[in-house]
Amino acid sequence: MPPSPQKHLGCYPRTRLRRTRRTVWSRQLVAESRLAAADLIWPLFATEGERRREPVASMPGVDRLSIDLVVEAVGEAVALGIPAVAVFPSIEAELKTPDAAEALNPDNVVCRAVRAIKTAYPGIGIICDVALDPFNSQGHDGLVQDGRVLNDETVALLCRQALVQAQAGCDVVAPSDMMDGRVGAIRDILDGAGFVEVQIMSYAAKYASAFYGPFRDAVGSGAMLKGDKKSYQMDPANGAEALREVALDISEGADMLIVKPGLPYLDVLRAVSQTFGVPTFAYQVSGEYAMLKAAVANGWLDGETALLETLISFKRAGASGIITYAALEAARLLQRH
Ligand code: PBG
Repeated sequence: MPPSPQKHLGCYPRTRLRRTRRTVWSRQLVAESRLAAADLIWPLFATEGERRREPVASMPGVDRLSIDLVVEAVGEAVALGIPAVAVFPSIEAELKTPDAAEALNPDNVVCRAVRAIKTAYPGIGIICDVALDPFNSQGHDGLVQDGRVLNDETVALLCRQALVQAQAGCDVVAPSDMMDGRVGAIRDILDGAGFVEVQIMSYAAKYASAFYGPFRDAVGSGAMLKGDKKSYQMDPANGAEALREVALDISEGADMLIVKPGLPYLDVLRAVSQTFGVPTFAYQVSGEYAMLKAAVANGWLDGETALLETLISFKRAGASGIITYAALEAARLLQRH
């Protein structure tokens, strides 16, 4: 008896999913996600000095750069088609105080870096991190009193920090502090000062993660950090709570969202991007980068394919783009592909 067409619909041997995988051209045609330099945001660490390049030991290939070298590095990003950079400060321990006053200094290293980048490369997007930890002698994102990280007092400072960054010429402020209510407060301050076009990229779902260790080495906040950040960053056990965080930030005026870290939170990224349809970025954080580089240094992974695989996984999960320390490297690889 001939097999019924119904029974064989979508079944082997008429259907062979390997058929479309066989050749490069066909794989290209059926690819569901794509990765381009235009998807990438490159974080940079700015520090004092001239012609100064200080490697970050736990992040092979990442350096703290004096502003002149930051500008040169941004030139490379521009040439590779990377649309935006994120500037982080690495400041001397003496400048770190309990009130994080340096965060509000319009001539701090971040603001000077922003002005220098804007002058040299007016077309690239500049994102500034809003949080006190690189400036705070206790390594916390907010003001600390009697061992507690204060919310509302911190928000008032974050607003002033965002304002000096906007005045320096940044295009996007990215609050990474996880205080309640900061997105709305920052929006109001920026609007009141005429910076209606400055975007807010909110670290909406940011987890209390072990994967930030190398970043804290880079900005020098790790050694200073007293305790942990679990009273403000999210519990890795929680997913539904991330949707509440995101909903609040959108209602307060966030233009774009970040889910952070990246790979361990792909489920959250997927849920956020599907639920809200707001541009959502994955942050492939320092510890993820360090893990990859360490395995590659040992000869245990093929670095190029492993890197591109992690990045495409973010796109597959729904990311609009990825913040990654490997942005330059990835953009170069993509030119060859
Ligand atoms: C600071 C901040 C952190 C990161 C980005 N902004 C560290 C932290 O919250 O402790 C982490 C980035 C990374 O690990 O690459 N608020």
